[in-house]
Amino acid sequence: MSSILPEGYQPPVHVGVIMDGNGRWAKKRGMPRKFGHREGAKTFRTITRHAKALGVQYITFYAFSTENWKRPKDEVDAIMDLFEKNLDEVRDFIEENIRVRFIGDRSMLNPRLQEKMKGVEEDSKDFDSMTLILAINYGGRDEITHTVRQIALDVKNGILQPEEVTQELIQSRLYTEEIPDVDLIIRPSGEQRLSNFLIWQAAYAEYYFTNILWPDFTKKDLEDAVIAYCERNRRFGGV
Ligand code: IPE
Ligand code: IPE
Ligand code: MG
Repeated sequence: MSSILPEGYQPPVHVGVIMDGNGRWAKKRGMPRKFGHREGAKTFRTITRHAKALGVQYITFYAFSTENWKRPKDEVDAIMDLFEKNLDEVRDFIEENIRVRFIGDRSMLNPRLQEKMKGVEEDSKDFDSMTLILAINYGGRDEITHTVRQIALDVKNGILQPEEVTQELIQSRLYTEEIPDVDLIIRPSGEQRLSNFLIWQAAYAEYYFTNILWPDFTKKDLEDAVIAYCERNRRFGGV
């Protein structure tokens, strides 16, 4: 348990972060949107480290959605370049005993980026201080479709019986596999929606919205979100 939180407060096991507001942050400063993404990447590193200090065990960052391909090509290219540069810095997390995982459909990403992703996952797989999950070309509906297709194939081939298709089985075949459900979803920038993030896993998540734009999001903002979470009463349908 961390000493940063008030006595008796249990941090969420799994935090999800929708890193939103980079474009508006840049626009406010009269700069191209990609500057906002670059600044947002710095926030991502600070918040990852602080989540670990708070005792969070899993943190998932929504970095690029299956819908974000709709953006102008130069913005998409700038974001992809940033991922590649950032992956080299994500390697530093390995020294901090952090396991790194990626979720999403990788097949549409540049092969060199895919190689780097595989390398980071492989080199960090035995670390256990925290799991950092990056959602890149991720969409909740895409994930569920991918899972259903896999299961359908197994049923067709006689490997699975229809009655063996349980919630647990579906869960184990999502991109998140063994990662526990998300407990707290933080969305900065004032938008109050999920935008196709972890839709299965968020069935009982708590939500925390703030108007702060992601590049301005601080360690204190993370603490505020975690404390708000700790003070809620989760019932999961019970009393
Ligand atoms: C989030 O910031 C980053 C990505 C979706 C890649 P935005 O780029 O959506 O920023 P706003 O919402 O336009 O301000
Ligand atoms: C959600 O942000 C996706 C990521 C942060 C990666 P968007 O900016 O794409 O979401 P919408 O379009 O406002 O719903
Ligand atoms: Mg946005």
